[in-house]
Amino acid sequence: MTPLLEIRDLRIRLGDRALVDGVDISVNPGEIVGLAGESGSGKTLTALTALGFTPPGSAASGEVLFEGRNTLTLPKSQLRALRGDRVAMIFQDPMTSLHPMLTIERQLTEHQLAHRSLTRRQAREHAIELLERVRIPDPHRAIRSYPHRFSGGMRQRIAIASALACEPDLVVADEVTTALDVTVQAGILRLLDELCRDTGMAMLFITHDLAVMNVLTERLYVMREGRVVETGATREVLAAPTHEYTRALIEALPQTDTETA
Ligand SMILES: Nc1ncnc2c1ncn2[C@@H]1O[C@H](COP(=O)(O)OP(=O)(O)OP(=O)(O)O)[C@@H](O)[C@H]1O
Ligand SMILES: [Mg+2]
Repeated sequence: MTPLLEIRDLRIRLGDRALVDGVDISVNPGEIVGLAGESGSGKTLTALTALGFTPPGSAASGEVLFEGRNTLTLPKSQLRALRGDRVAMIFQDPMTSLHPMLTIERQLTEHQLAHRSLTRRQAREHAIELLERVRIPDPHRAIRSYPHRFSGGMRQRIAIASALACEPDLVVADEVTTALDVTVQAGILRLLDELCRDTGMAMLFITHDLAVMNVLTERLYVMREGRVVETGATREVLAAPTHEYTRALIEALPQTDTETA
């Protein structure tokens, strides 16, 4: 199978610091892949660079093939089209993707109106369907509201709806459940899992929380200090980690989490 996303020997330097140091990651169509590792190990930087957002002053080398195109060398206009259409990102803080001053309708229809030839009414109907899919109660009313009216978990659901609007092939989810309490977290994980299965969308799921990885991902990469130190089937990596660092991460988990996850 040709991977949907293939990161090859990605290196990111900032001044004389090697922030990411030779990373290889691949995601197949429809696959849910985890990217784990402690804070500062380079997970977010790897994902953002792969989607063409390199921090100012940094230099990236290697290759990032998304649907066969190298995002590191793609012209800005093509990159923007790709990001608006084939790949979407969801972040820890839903307000990163949601605008506080715009109604949910505006936020869910804007992309569709820009990327699809839909009428406003069709886009609105699609937005209501999206809200139903992410289980927002009373979507007809919700669509006229502003983000502040919703709880953190509900906002994250709306951010997910917004990511789904253009039916991307890949969604990159960066610590999307980290700020939520455990029961809300479990609901979001179930939702993401279901959406990937139903739509055939692939997901790169980033978190430092290995217990969450166990619930959701099929395959896992563990990063440390800008490098991938371990990779394999999530079950196998978590059951029998070969790297001392992964073992330490697992030992740091609360016991009940690993057992019930
Ligand atoms: N825009 C930036 N400018 C300078 N340094 C950066 C920038 N973004 C990240 N870094 C540095 O790169 C390294 C990797 O950061 P990154 O945000 O990718 O870590 P992470 O694994 O996502 O951590 P966390 O779990 O805390 O989100 C860190 O040392 C960080 O300080
Ligand atoms: Mg991060």
